[in-house]
Amino acid sequence: MKVTFLGHACFQIDTGKEKILIDPFLTGNALAAVSADEVEADLILVTHGHGDHVGDAEAIARRTGAKIICTVDLAEGAFAGKGLNVIAGNLGGKILMPFGSVKFVQAIHGSGVAGTLSNGFLITAGDKKIYHAGDTALTMDMQLLKADNVDLALLPIGDFFTMGPEDALRAAEMIQAKTVVPMHYDTFPPIRQDPEEFVKSVKKAGLRAEVLKPGESIEV
Ligand code: NI
Ligand code: MN
Repeated sequence: MKVTFLGHACFQIDTGKEKILIDPFLTGNALAAVSADEVEADLILVTHGHGDHVGDAEAIARRTGAKIICTVDLAEGAFAGKGLNVIAGNLGGKILMPFGSVKFVQAIHGSGVAGTLSNGFLITAGDKKIYHAGDTALTMDMQLLKADNVDLALLPIGDFFTMGPEDALRAAEMIQAKTVVPMHYDTFPPIRQDPEEFVKSVKKAGLRAEVLKPGESIEV
């Protein structure tokens, strides 16, 4: 299974059958690896209502016919009445899919749309598990993910709006994923970070980590 970083918090998971797109903020992101007009998707996962996560979800869903997965509240607040195919769940819930499942997990963050919560996603595809943290502070809830035997953890390191590198390292130590990839940095001036330094710190803690430049992929 191939996971491609498309910039900011946007990733595409290619299961071999389906293409799962997460937080497609492409238009307006100078560092995006693809344009909203060309990206492929069968399913679009949105972690919360901020513009740098909802991004082009509506336009891509309209063009590709992809289904959107988000919370019931975000579905109501951001996607209602638009003729889109939305699968709306909520925190703690797991949605069964042909490739496995998508579970809504805890994130500590605002959400941009009144009455909605932020979340992360634990995606099971075949025998692999991928955790996309969304935007979040460090939270003890991440300890719970250790029991899930996560293969790939995608963690924000930008600081200012989310965990910074120090807290993301503590998150990585809690989660014990097989590989960690940093996200949510450099897109805007307040979140400039050195991802190589972060990766070094994670490796020092005995875990595997890798920086993906926008457009680069990792095999999971
Ligand atoms: Ni946010
Ligand atoms: Mn964000």
